[in-house]
Amino acid sequence: MNITVNKSNGLKGNIEIPADKSITHRAFMFAALTKGKVKVSNFSKGADCMSTLKIIQNLGCDIEYLNEKELIINAKNAINKPQSPLDCGNSGTTTRLMTGILAGQNFNCKLFGDQSLSKRPMKRVITPLELMGAKFIHNDYKLPIEIIGTKLNGIDYNSPLASAQVKSCLLLAGLNAEGKTTFTEPYKSRNHTELMFEYMGAKIQIDGNKVTVSKSQLKPVDINICGDISSAAFFIVAALITPNSDIIIKNVGINETRSGIIDVLKAMNGSIEILDKRIISNEEIADIRVKYSELRGTTIEGAIIPRLIDEIPILAVAATQAKGTTIIKDAQDLRNKEADRITAVKTELRKIGANIEETPDGLVIKGKTDLAGNCEIECYHDHRIAMSAYVAGLICKKPIKINEFQWVDISFPEFLSLMNKISTY
Ligand code: S3P
Repeated sequence: MNITVNKSNGLKGNIEIPADKSITHRAFMFAALTKGKVKVSNFSKGADCMSTLKIIQNLGCDIEYLNEKELIINAKNAINKPQSPLDCGNSGTTTRLMTGILAGQNFNCKLFGDQSLSKRPMKRVITPLELMGAKFIHNDYKLPIEIIGTKLNGIDYNSPLASAQVKSCLLLAGLNAEGKTTFTEPYKSRNHTELMFEYMGAKIQIDGNKVTVSKSQLKPVDINICGDISSAAFFIVAALITPNSDIIIKNVGINETRSGIIDVLKAMNGSIEILDKRIISNEEIADIRVKYSELRGTTIEGAIIPRLIDEIPILAVAATQAKGTTIIKDAQDLRNKEADRITAVKTELRKIGANIEETPDGLVIKGKTDLAGNCEIECYHDHRIAMSAYVAGLICKKPIKINEFQWVDISFPEFLSLMNKISTY
């Protein structure tokens, strides 16, 4: 699907953003491990989470839809050998977390994915899982991967990467391993697994960037999922950079390990108010009010990077409208996402008219620049590149065309209808 984005006269009104993708993956997978029934309310309908749901069905769970927003996962007694290879689609989270669950089972199975996922690195989870005793057959640590189910032993692992996917993979393997499994990371990555483990009664201890889990049986408790801050990010930046904007985004997850974008945009002089903080299913949520603002450049580096790793493409768009220089460093893992996001963001924002350079581990953006538009954008099979380009298009002098915009369906199928609801033309 190719689309055209026209200049907006401002975003106005209230919206609710669909459910968090990271938390939905975990709710589906952890429910499958309970041996009971779990009601999941307000789950993400993006293609990535649907890949996870299909996999747990293939492993023997029954899924009953109560209505549009609620379903029940009946895990029955245990997960079972699947009838066919498991399709992870475009989803890195499905692949890495399921590998941790499947490595310690008493059956073998095979994981595969689409073209983009088949290029992404799996060594980061295979290496520590092998230290736990896991066995795999693979070609250069890439999908497709055969998992030879075997008994696992806990390890004390010092991760070179701050990665929630690697951490969650090991903690899931640790649930079913003998002894304790400890994972330490250089900076704290998103902690949804830890919070949901606590919520579902696992034996878990957290000490700064170190997490320890012991063999545990997760309890079936109902899970209500908040709005996705990574999806809200596109609307937050759209409102900040489009004159006349004033919006409220309801029920957004503001977990400290995910809300780096709010801290950075506030430091850039963004008018962002966090209203009515509350907790659902062990996660902090709030409503967020955002108004058009005159932004200033900033430096984004170090410990904050994992707290906003998925928001860097849209932060780069914000930086084109910020006075001064914005420097993004320590983000080399962006090259291993759905696309090489450093090169993709530089290439596409340059076409639109931005002053942007790439470095080995980030980007340097000089602003404020008038964006001319009048160009054709590629998405690189990457939902976040597609949505970032769309937001840039809202302030371009001339319309932009975005090719293959359907990639938004990976995380946010409702993006266009919500944008049309609050953007004025
Ligand atoms: C995710 C973790 C992040 C993030 C991804 C979702 C998760 O990856 O980029 O979109 O749900 O655990 P890394 O932990 O590998 O950085």
